[in-house]
Amino acid sequence: MASGLEGRVVIVTGAGSGIGRAAALAFAQEGARVVVADLNAESAAATVQEIEKADGTAVAVTGDLGEQSVVDQVAATAVERFGGVDVLVNNAGIMDRMSALGEVSDAEWDRVIRVNLTAPFLLTRAVLPHMLTAGRGAIVNTASEAGLRGSAAGAAYTASKHGVVGLTKSLAVMYRNQGIRANAIAPGGTRTGIQIDLADGAHGPAALGPYFGNVGQVSEPEEQAAVIVFLASDAASNINGAILPVDNGWAAV
Ligand SMILES: NC(=O)c1ccc[n+]([C@@H]2O[C@H](COP(=O)([O-])OP(=O)(O)OC[C@H]3O[C@@H](n4cnc5c(N)ncnc54)[C@H](O)[C@@H]3O)[C@@H](O)[C@H]2O)c1
Repeated sequence: MASGLEGRVVIVTGAGSGIGRAAALAFAQEGARVVVADLNAESAAATVQEIEKADGTAVAVTGDLGEQSVVDQVAATAVERFGGVDVLVNNAGIMDRMSALGEVSDAEWDRVIRVNLTAPFLLTRAVLPHMLTAGRGAIVNTASEAGLRGSAAGAAYTASKHGVVGLTKSLAVMYRNQGIRANAIAPGGTRTGIQIDLADGAHGPAALGPYFGNVGQVSEPEEQAAVIVFLASDAASNINGAILPVDNGWAAV
């Protein structure tokens, strides 16, 4: 089945690096027009350049997606430049310090929840009216292995990614009769630029070794991107509310 993504308008957050960048390139290859949203202006511009070099169409929007004004700008850019929003990929995210709950500062908690959970909420709320008017839309969220279990990150990141799973399922149920699907990938360890700022190692990979030992191979961003594109495509037309591990079997252990 054809992907059905030709000419479609796709927003990818965190598209300046890692999984988001790979997803933006993959959508452009399918003929979609891509809004590249990222905090980092330089890397967002680089992704747009790469897409345009391959004769694709993309535009960059730079800013912190935890801010309503930036969220509004992303949605407005999609509508004004390309006429609507068909696909939203909430992918931007930050790692925590792998701290146990008792050691999480207010600042760490607020920032991780803001970027990983509140930003997807804000941007989804901003694009939903456009999808509802069109009577169709696909939302793909990047959750994590840490959205499925308690041993893949610290308390803040784990809570944020469990939140992303809940957000995805609620969207899927509540908008299922209005042409909108919502799914998530749950990546295992993936070779990207994400900052893993380990505080003192007390709860880091060494302490979680028995669990991390089950990670298997580290995946490439392109392997995650391929699943994001599939979930957004017509080939996944009856998949709604799925949280799909892309982790070489980690979630199966
Ligand atoms: N790499 C992994 O092992 C792994 C595993 C599971 C889940 N994930 C998830 O994958 C997603 C993508 O991360 P990645 O691994 O590609 O990391 P990455 O650091 O390579 O890319 C993340 C991008 O998001 C952007 N970003 C961060 N905060 C932002 C903000 N407030 N507003 C706008 N953009 C912002 C960064 O500038 C960066 O370009 C994240 O949600 C992450 O939690 C990654």
